[in-house]
Amino acid sequence: MLDDVVGWLRCPYCRGRLARAGGALRCHGGHSFDIARQGYVSLLHAGTAGGQGDTAAMVCARSEFLATGHFAPIATALADAAAPAVTDLRPPPRPGCVVDVGAGTGYYLAIVLDRLPDAAGLALDLSKHALRQAARAHARIGPVGCDAWRPLPVADAVADVVMNVFAPRDGAELRRIMRPDGRLLVITPAPPHLAELTGQLGLLSVDERKRERLDDKLGPHFDLERVSEHRGVMTLGHQEVAALAAMGPSAWHADEGAMAERIAGLPDPVHVTRAVTLTVLRRRP
Ligand SMILES: C[S@@+](CC[C@H](N)C(=O)[O-])C[C@H]1O[C@@H](n2cnc3c(N)ncnc32)[C@H](O)[C@@H]1O
Ligand SMILES: [Zn+2]
Repeated sequence: MLDDVVGWLRCPYCRGRLARAGGALRCHGGHSFDIARQGYVSLLHAGTAGGQGDTAAMVCARSEFLATGHFAPIATALADAAAPAVTDLRPPPRPGCVVDVGAGTGYYLAIVLDRLPDAAGLALDLSKHALRQAARAHARIGPVGCDAWRPLPVADAVADVVMNVFAPRDGAELRRIMRPDGRLLVITPAPPHLAELTGQLGLLSVDERKRERLDDKLGPHFDLERVSEHRGVMTLGHQEVAALAAMGPSAWHADEGAMAERIAGLPDPVHVTRAVTLTVLRRRP
């Protein structure tokens, strides 16, 4: 998996090219990064203070919920947008390069790659638990540990498509790694997303100012191509609601016992709105 993507990677210390050397990736400057037996490589700059990304429990809940297929329409919207962005490029890049920043379990990237038989994908995430899942999500995914708030260990202008799904984004870095004719696909929650659960379960509600903040962060680096809303109603059993609650940012704040009690107070099954915005952007010249 990493062999497909190693040419797109750069050393986090000296920005040199990396090449496979046995069970590691190495640059000419002598920096070496072990490939974990689970199939991912961490290119985190040592000594970088900061978070850990999602915990094992959150990643486990995310895998469980995504496997139900209730978020599959989001993946379809991404694949629909990614496919022309890669195949319309002249001359066609071989292989196409899709980079998912904050890829989590690799669920969305895997579905996008299924649509693009000549492309490979980089799944970037800070959480080693997520990277382990991403390594198993698709044969053409190379999972790489890094911090989305630091310079990404990715070469300049390699990505045909950059994806960012409910994850941290640094506009300048997303632009740097993108080909001049590439596209950035961003999924953000729209205000009614999971609204039937937020009050009862005390989940974090979607910030009404999210759109504005997206523009602030990406506006200097990208031009807007189009925005589309993707809404549906999911019919969820309590087990699915529990996974959904445990996979998100609210998991940091919730007590497990109290959450189970609150879920027990919901109808079973419960109808829950899925509402996301897909924003497609072009790299600013
Ligand atoms: C809400 S999850 C979304 C995951 C995936 N895109 C999905 O929708 O299934 C956010 C992801 O960002 C990762 N993350 C959080 N902080 C990060 C950082 N500073 N750099 C890279 N990834 C980070 C988490 O580990 C987690 O996998
Ligand atoms: Zn180096």
